[in-house]
Amino acid sequence: MDYLKTQGVKSLKGNIRISGAKNASLPLIAMTILAKNKVNIKNLPHVADINTLLKLLSNLGAECNFLDDRVIVDTTSINNTKATYDIVKTMRASILVLGPILARFGHCEVSLPGGCAIGQRPIDLHLKALEQMGAKIEIKAGYIEATTPNGLKGCEIIFDKITVTGTANIVMAAALAEGVTTITNAAREPEVVQLCEVLDASGVKIKGIGTAILTIHGTGGELVDIPEFTIIPDRIEAGTYLCAAAITKSELTLTHVEPKHLGAVLAKLEEMGSSFTLGKDFITIHPAKDIKPVKIITQEYPAFPTDMQAQFMALATQADGVSIIEERLFENRFMHVSELQRMGADISLNGHTATVSGKAQLSGTDVMATDLRASSALVLAALVSEGETNIHRIYHLDRGYDSLEKKLEGVGAKIERLKE
Ligand code: UD1
Repeated sequence: MDYLKTQGVKSLKGNIRISGAKNASLPLIAMTILAKNKVNIKNLPHVADINTLLKLLSNLGAECNFLDDRVIVDTTSINNTKATYDIVKTMRASILVLGPILARFGHCEVSLPGGCAIGQRPIDLHLKALEQMGAKIEIKAGYIEATTPNGLKGCEIIFDKITVTGTANIVMAAALAEGVTTITNAAREPEVVQLCEVLDASGVKIKGIGTAILTIHGTGGELVDIPEFTIIPDRIEAGTYLCAAAITKSELTLTHVEPKHLGAVLAKLEEMGSSFTLGKDFITIHPAKDIKPVKIITQEYPAFPTDMQAQFMALATQADGVSIIEERLFENRFMHVSELQRMGADISLNGHTATVSGKAQLSGTDVMATDLRASSALVLAALVSEGETNIHRIYHLDRGYDSLEKKLEGVGAKIERLKE
């Protein structure tokens, strides 16, 4: 198993190129199941979750050629509609194949994803919406068994809660359904927007893209050819490196980034004293000399993302004063707290709220990554710790960060990947 050995640094300097967004790539790869042509996707990140989904598609019978940052997916050869537990258990987002397999083949079996480190993460809203569209769903021996005896029919869906993968799943199912589907309380994340835009360019008329009400005119059969497209930049990766700059008080420039997707993150960094020079596809951060404390509430896009909560907590340990961080999306997304405390952070937890008192002198030690974003919070803390930090179980980190240690090393961090 790999681990990261990291030393504290005085400062970082230079440019970091941001990769394509993992959370945009996953639904867009799942969408290729709906295609009747070979689909060419550019700017994919090299992260384990992408390999997992491509493996799932290969198991279904698709052909996937992933070279450099480009994949060509041919799903015309799919001859199997069962997404098995061995893959689904390693990545919950595998549930994204449910909508498209069902829409194309009229039947499928998808393993239930099971538990998750950051909370229960049910998929009831995905299933309820598919049933409204005419699917018959049974849960048998840990699998979702779904059929569409009369095909999928457009209907009116109102999500009780905003769900990102739920919205993506239903948009994909609705794309081939007969008639019009309206999704109220749809997710507005840029990753959902890109999925809708690509489907819209493939013959599925979608109105309200980027709003909470999506109207999808199903084709009742097939898509026209899906054109080549480029995955949007990863806003969470970008946010993480902005925090790396802020915590080490370094000026860094991120390239190949979309500043418009980072509104809430930039606003909080500004409150903490940083300023920015923004271009069309770059951000230079001018860090605060003294980091100010902050109040953060995680919510759905365009509000502050839960996927940035752990990194801001690491940053808040270095603020002069008391920061309050409230997690509203996932009930157990504070697993990084105990590891940050072991490094010397002063954090107290009360239900969904963390109180972080700074500024703490952090010390390097052995710590354990517990989930994807918690892992990067530990890397950020390690950058300003005295001595050496060894971050173990970085397979979590590898699920979603493309070459993190190489990118940080490139701007002067002392970080290396070693084997246990
Ligand atoms: C996606 C992102 C993840 C991010 C999360 C919230 C991907 C691959 N993953 O996860 O990085 O942290 O959005 O921004 O894009 N819920 C239900 N029932 C459902 C579905 C969701 O109760 O059927 C609840 C969840 O438990 C959670 C909330 O709704 O409390 C939001 O979850 P959701 O948006 O579905 O998260 P994911 O799509 O799994």
